[in-house]
Amino acid sequence: MPVENRWDQLESAADGLAISRDVSLRRFSSLGIGGQAAGFVSVDSEPALSALLERARKMEIPVKILGGGTNLVFTDQGFSGLLIRLGEGFKKIEIDQTGARAGAGAHLTALITRAIEAGLAGVEKLAGIPGTLGGAIYQNSGARDYETAQAVESVTFYDATRRRIRTLPKSELGFGYRTSVFHKMPAVILSAQLALEPAPRERLAAEVSARMKHRTETQPTGRSVGCIFKNPEGASAGHLIDQAGLKGRRAGGLVVSDIHGNFFINRGGAAFGDFEELVATVRETVRNKFGVNLELEVEVVREKTTGARGQSGAAETRGCDPREAARPGEPPVSEDRALCGWILCGEGNFV
Ligand code: EPU
Repeated sequence: MPVENRWDQLESAADGLAISRDVSLRRFSSLGIGGQAAGFVSVDSEPALSALLERARKMEIPVKILGGGTNLVFTDQGFSGLLIRLGEGFKKIEIDQTGARAGAGAHLTALITRAIEAGLAGVEKLAGIPGTLGGAIYQNSGARDYETAQAVESVTFYDATRRRIRTLPKSELGFGYRTSVFHKMPAVILSAQLALEPAPRERLAAEVSARMKHRTETQPTGRSVGCIFKNPEGASAGHLIDQAGLKGRRAGGLVVSDIHGNFFINRGGAAFGDFEELVATVRETVRNKFGVNLELEVEVVREKTTGARGQSGAAETRGCDPREAARPGEPPVSEDRALCGWILCGEGNFV
């Protein structure tokens, strides 16, 4: 099928959707690196999203869901599929005295502000983390003593394997340090039920101020994707990188921050090769000096179905094996080859 017709056919799956073609990925990642996405679309409703995903699946067009783009690194090769942003319809926040129901596209800042206005505690410790709720759930984002999972009661998502919307309680969401079940399951996080409880507004506001102050004092501004590596057990990646004398180390346009060692800053014109080089240098130096293997915390978006590792040793987003998505006690859901490499595992990563 001619390429143009392919995109038109995809557009016709959901009324009124306009897919932009050949858009630069730089504006979709806060690091400002990346080639082009073949297609980009903003979707405003669950029916439109389901229809679009279903059509893309049939056409074997890979899809990737975008959130704030504050934890994503794109390659210079770009993305041959469709990048989807959850629009206004996914940003709703409904609050009552026991909790909040919030859309995956809601920004954490908006959620925290609304909860504090209502005098409710539960999400204020996420203050300063950029990105959307969907991304925070996907990655179980957090600071040292607090993570998103602590506020989550249940998550509603489009299960791309079973092709229907499902809700799972927290106990089945596989939350761990910077991970969730959505790292292994082709799915799109749609909304979440969060547990909140009454608390004095002043205390909540003070908590937010203290966290923002710590960030301002210890983290750089500038184009970055936050912490590049996960903290190894019992240590801080930033501290190790600092102690290894790597602050200020440069690869092309990318530099290890002088303020926090776990941040890479794009000083302008950085390419994906610079990212790979700097990741490799930092990992090798820290391994040689401290015997510690640093694991990537950020997500590299690559179109591969092999799960292979890049030169940097970076974990890569990859197409899922649908059999992996089968839950204990349930039969394999589908052997449909079209699912492999269709919706990228990690597609829920809106961070
Ligand atoms: N440190 C150094 N040098 C550095 C950086 C840190 O000596 O260059 C020391 C600090 O002085 C401190 C310790 O390392 O004693 C920990 O530093 P920090 O409080 O900055 O916390 P972190 O472990 O480096 C974690 C999260 C951050 C989050 C902060 C909030 C991870 C990988 N990082 O950083 O999350 O903002 O806590 O305090 O879990 C992110 O996820 O993108 C991210 C930035």
